[in-house]
Amino acid sequence: MFRSLKKSLLATTLGAALALTGTAAQAEKFGIGTTATAEEIAGWDIDIRPDGKGLPKGQGTVAEGEGLYEQFCATCHGLFGEGEGRWPVLAGGQDTLTEERPTKTVGSYWPYASTLYDYIRRAMPFTAPRSLTDEQVYHITAYVLYLNEIVEDDFVLTQDNLAKIEMPNQEGFFVDPRPDVKNSRCMKNCADPDKLNIAGTLRGITPVGHFVEGADAPAASHEAQMEQEAMKEKTRKASLRGEEVAAGGHGGASALSEAALAGKSTYEGACKVCHGSGLTGSPKFGDTDAWEPRIKQGMAVMVKHAIKGFSGETGVMPPKGGRIDLSDKQVEDAVAYMVESSQ
Ligand code: HEC
Ligand code: HEC
Repeated sequence: MFRSLKKSLLATTLGAALALTGTAAQAEKFGIGTTATAEEIAGWDIDIRPDGKGLPKGQGTVAEGEGLYEQFCATCHGLFGEGEGRWPVLAGGQDTLTEERPTKTVGSYWPYASTLYDYIRRAMPFTAPRSLTDEQVYHITAYVLYLNEIVEDDFVLTQDNLAKIEMPNQEGFFVDPRPDVKNSRCMKNCADPDKLNIAGTLRGITPVGHFVEGADAPAASHEAQMEQEAMKEKTRKASLRGEEVAAGGHGGASALSEAALAGKSTYEGACKVCHGSGLTGSPKFGDTDAWEPRIKQGMAVMVKHAIKGFSGETGVMPPKGGRIDLSDKQVEDAVAYMVESSQ
């Protein structure tokens, strides 16, 4: 035990020494600036992580926080965190995240309590950031948590218990399942840029508003191309089964129900990014085999899965495809469009 302690002590000392010579050497090499002192670094290094790392020593109470909050914060954020005039609301808003105009507050939206301490210490009061002591920030943080009914009025917030506080919307965040898209730079035998054909832009994702008139034509033709491909796939599968597909298929407006027609633009803007190609294990638009078992579950189940989100055997369908600004009806129509185009 003692030996390993000694060893690790030696390692840190060595590490520190190496780091020091490293920075000193750099300052020398470029001949500019001076090496930052530990004190200077500490002044900037104020971030606090979700696990509480970076929190200064100290504690605070809801009772002490009340007076400080009224003195430093209430003029803008309101006595109860309701927000004066158009200043930001800090409390309430629970269960509004799925509404057309959600009220995002510390209590309804923020996933970690550490952010609250960090944010107040770093940026508030708005007109005098970093004017509060660490202790005052503990008191005020405790009080804002109390305003959000996350802690009781006798709560004592400490360096040790802050990270353990469970914020109501903690589960509302998920890791974006879409893969990173990376490309390596072409250095020889590269394509002639003049001959490149931009295959498509996803409406609602790639901004097209700044394009010159007529320049979004590739996007339009790309869409038509996708529809054609879906149609071809459908015809191929149908012919394998010995069926005939009506000319025009789903491409003909008459083949789609009113709901499906209404859902088309939602699909294009919010669902196609995954379902257009089968990204992340999603059933691909027009792929009758992929959709058949899902359609068997019935519309109600599929709509529920699309609205509430769903983790199945092939991947994760995020609630409303990650677009919580969509109404339930819009999602339902988009499902109708996808289903009717894929059966
Ligand atoms: C002069 C008005 C004013 C005062 C006083 C003030 N704030 Fe703010 N506060 C703001 C503004 C403006 C923002 C939004 C800043 C931004 O988005 O860049 C904000 C944002 C916040 C947020 C983030 C809200 C969110 O959901 O994004 C918190 C938390 C907060 N303030 C806490 C406090 C606390 C605690 C105090 C008192 C120590 C305080 N504020 C004092 C104006 C004020
Ligand atoms: C980030 C990618 C992604 C986006 C965006 C997305 N989906 Fe999905 N969706 C999936 C995945 C993955 C599945 C398959 C989940 C499984 O079965 O494992 C799925 C499955 C579905 C299902 C089948 C559910 C079932 O019960 O089998 C429906 C319906 C659906 N999505 C509708 C939509 C609608 C409507 C939108 C747009 C509002 C949308 N999706 C946007 C990834 C996505």
